[in-house]
Parts: sequence; structure tokens; C-alpha cells
Amino acid sequence: MRKSIMTKENFKKKGFRDTLSQFATGVTIITTLDSDGGPVGITVSSFNSVSMDPPLVLWSLAKDSYSVPCFQNAEYFNIHILSIDQEDMSNRFARPGVDKFANIDIYPGLGDTPVLKDCAALLQCRTQHQYDGGDHIIFVGEVLSHNHSAKKPLVFHQGQYASTLPMAVC
Ligand SMILES: Cc1cc2nc3c(=O)[nH]c(=O)nc-3n(C[C@H](O)[C@H](O)[C@H](O)COP(=O)(O)O)c2cc1C
Repeated sequence: MRKSIMTKENFKKKGFRDTLSQFATGVTIITTLDSDGGPVGITVSSFNSVSMDPPLVLWSLAKDSYSVPCFQNAEYFNIHILSIDQEDMSNRFARPGVDKFANIDIYPGLGDTPVLKDCAALLQCRTQHQYDGGDHIIFVGEVLSHNHSAKKPLVFHQGQYASTLPMAVC
């Protein structure tokens, strides 16, 4: 195993990213509304569960993202857990400055926030807390509504998309 003892001098962002990227995650798109009522969305892998009772989840948003003020002011947001066939959607919502919602089917969720169709799972949340997290803002949401399908999830690991493969049963 590669040993890495960090001092301020040798702490390198690339190495830190490589270490973190050993943690395989799912991929989500998180949506809300901007101040004009337009749809906003961003690809996010920092999603995680926090609490069962009350039902809380979290995710973090880079402070230099265009959508920061939208999520800071949002009462509601939707977390879509992407399915294995939604890699294109993930790439589209990771690109700043494009019309992410062009030709995409949406329907209104809580507070008219945009909900995407055909995802592996959906959690509709009310913003509960916002914390400073270095160069990110950490959002904690109370889950008000959720559902899931039988679709397999999209996975992100070491900077690449992947799929789940169950361990062989012995
Ligand atoms: C797989 C994947 C996961 C990502 N996860 C996050 C994340 O957790 N937080 C974040 O701020 N950006 C994340 N990004 C980057 C954003 O999706 C990207 O910066 C996006 O363009 C920001 O949108 P905006 O600037 O229009 O708000 C991720 C990108 C990809 C491809």
C-alpha cells in the first residue's frame, strides 16, 4: 500500500483526490429552482445518508459553482440517484454554462422544483442545515418523500463510471 504522511508542504491536491477516489460512490443529479423559477441541476457524487429518524441526507457543493446561490436560497431540492443507463445525463449536468434541461422530461415536485424521470431512486428534500466545508458548502436535507425503481445504479470510482457486480455466492 502506498504510504502517505501529510504535512502542509507535501499535501498535494492530486494525491488527495486519488486517495478519495478509492471510495466508490453512486452518482446523483440534484435539482432546484433559481430566483426566476427556472430549473437548476448539478451532478453530485458527495451524496450520503445521515440519519434514519429523522430522515436526513447530505451532499456538498463547490463554492465556485454557478448554482451556489440557488441552493443556498432553496427551500426544497431533489436528489436523483442515477441508473446505469444515465451516464449521458451525468455528463450533461456536470457541464457548466449549457442548457442542462434542454429536451429533458421533468415534472413538478415540492415547491414546483424540477423532478427528472426514469432514475434509480428519488429523494425530495427540504433544506435543513447548511455548513461551511472549506471550499464546499455542506447541505443537509430532511427527506419528505422518496421512491425507488429496480434499475441498477450508476457507480463512480477512480474518476470513471462503473457498474455494480454482486460478489459470487459461495
Ligand atoms: C461524477 C461527478 C460527480 C460530481 N460530484 C460533485 C459534487 O459532489 N459536488 C460538486 O460541487 N460538484 C461535483 N461535480 C462537478 C459538478 O457537477 C460540475 O462542477 C457542475 O458543472 C457544476 O454546475 P454549475 O457550475 O452549473 O453549478 C461532479 C461531477 C461529476 C462528473
